[in-house]
Amino acid sequence: MCGIVGYIGKRDAYPIILKGLKRLEYRGYDSAGIALFDGKDIQLCKTKGKVATLEEKAKNEMSLVGNLGIGHTRWATHGVPNDVNSHPHYSNSGDLVIIHNGIIENYDTLKKELINRGYTFKSDTDTEVLVNLIEDIQKNQKLKLGKAVQIALNQVVGAYAIALFDRKKPDEIVVAKLGSPLAIGIGEDEFFVASDASPFIEFTNNAIYLEDEEMAIIRLGRDVKIRKIKDDKVVAPYIQELQMNLEQIEKGGYDHFMLKEIYEQPSVIKDTYRGRLLPDEGIVRLGGLENHIEKFLNAERIIIVACGTSWHAGLVAEYIIEDFTRIPVEVEYASEFRYRNPIISSKDIIIAISQSGETADTLAAIKLAKQHGAFVYGICNVVGSTISRETHSGTYTHAGPEIGVASTKAFTTQITVLTMLALRLAKAKGTISHSDFVRYLHELALIPTHVEEALKTESKIKEIAAVFKDARNFLYLGRGYNFPVALEGALKLKEISYIHAEGYPAAEMKHGPIALIDESMPVVVVAIKSEHYEKVVSNIQEIKARKGKIIAVVSEGDKVVSEMADYVMEVPHTPEPLTPLLTTIPLQLLSYHIAVMLGRNVDQPRNLAKSVTVE
Ligand code: G6P
Repeated sequence: MCGIVGYIGKRDAYPIILKGLKRLEYRGYDSAGIALFDGKDIQLCKTKGKVATLEEKAKNEMSLVGNLGIGHTRWATHGVPNDVNSHPHYSNSGDLVIIHNGIIENYDTLKKELINRGYTFKSDTDTEVLVNLIEDIQKNQKLKLGKAVQIALNQVVGAYAIALFDRKKPDEIVVAKLGSPLAIGIGEDEFFVASDASPFIEFTNNAIYLEDEEMAIIRLGRDVKIRKIKDDKVVAPYIQELQMNLEQIEKGGYDHFMLKEIYEQPSVIKDTYRGRLLPDEGIVRLGGLENHIEKFLNAERIIIVACGTSWHAGLVAEYIIEDFTRIPVEVEYASEFRYRNPIISSKDIIIAISQSGETADTLAAIKLAKQHGAFVYGICNVVGSTISRETHSGTYTHAGPEIGVASTKAFTTQITVLTMLALRLAKAKGTISHSDFVRYLHELALIPTHVEEALKTESKIKEIAAVFKDARNFLYLGRGYNFPVALEGALKLKEISYIHAEGYPAAEMKHGPIALIDESMPVVVVAIKSEHYEKVVSNIQEIKARKGKIIAVVSEGDKVVSEMADYVMEVPHTPEPLTPLLTTIPLQLLSYHIAVMLGRNVDQPRNLAKSVTVE
């Protein structure tokens, strides 16, 4: 899970690669490096730390000229983050230089064979093994670089997006992909390579997304040549015109991407339902679903697989789909599902939820389900991502690029899609009355306005954050539809503030967590007007009796909880099944402000990465 960038053309490669790496830092940021061909030789600089550290080091250590180069920002998988393990990596001769995002699982065996043949290694990485394997094949068999790469990759088990060049052939970059993303930007007499399009979007809108097991030879003055790595079949390049613009990628005036993304929610929720939700006509439709409605209606059950925040969206969906459609739903951590020999049949429908569309465990769960003949439906944000391609059908969330590692707008847009899906199925199945159906369509259409209202409480939330920022632990409680929101609230706080937080169903508190409550324990309770309101009120009394501090998310105008709680955060009224779309908002803001006050790196919290493409 790293970011890779490459450039070949008429411009200076260094500034393009450096800026590209900064945009890709969300993919990993424990070390960074760059290799340039200066016209005669390769200049290489790499370092532990962020791209900014690399920038400082490169100024002193290398000539920054050259029209060909590759760069890398790393999230360590093999070998600790340090200068030596950083990419790019040279081959033993120093002729080849490579960057790699992924894991070579059989690197140890390959390394031993190469050591027997006299190769030496400076780093602990699997990547250095790969570049030397390529060199070994190239030399022994006297092959062109592309062919040697192809043969080497056929010996490799694992995942990769790679880019490399040969100092003896500085008009060419070779790239290949399996399991990690790789896009090629096509300019005029210039080419870009990157993990996503953000590094080259200001230069070109034309891009090729390599498919798994494809490699490409990018040579100046020629068209990009794509081949299948296994059977050598030539593939006609499919050039897409990208809609994404730079403003979407950059921070847009906010201090952090996370805050920008929190504030984008009203507009992206609208983007998510645009053209799909037509309340006045009494219609909700999802392109990917319409041809498969029968499959859903005949399904014995729906199994949702996901990780992290997407898993929490899956839990909300369990409530809403069962409630509205009466189709049984199970929600599984993809990482558990794939390894626990689950019972899957062709009568099951799998819904895979993933913001990035690249999460390794979710992808593996999908593959397993497909092997058992299940129909797999994907809900992804990143268009063209691996999961979106691996699923039989699906719906994009259209939330735009999410850069902050802590997921916010992806979560609410996932819930928006899942709510539309539940409503569409309920209508088809006849498990919802027409009047309720139409009422929900109208209520869903109002959610962006309600989110805007909820966001207006930010200054109050900031005050609450100031009071509790030094707490060592937090408890988050919710019931029914808002139990997953409690889990998500706790996850947000853990991720970016490093404060220990636990989410619990409010009633379960009595079976353990209540023992933790004393005057130093802030308890965040989602206590909106709902079927469980009275019960939650009792839970709050139990906490108060033990001197816990109550921060409650309440419905606008609430009196009862407001009087009992130490602090309240109000959200507008909406029918209970839609409340997670609103109650989540103050919890996102609370964790954001606590993290900022503690001086944490909000967008790039320690040890985490946006897209986990390893097990
Ligand atoms: C990582 C991210 C989380 C995300 C999870 C699942 O852990 O840090 O924010 O929820 O992966 O990612 P996905 O892209 O599959 O939704």
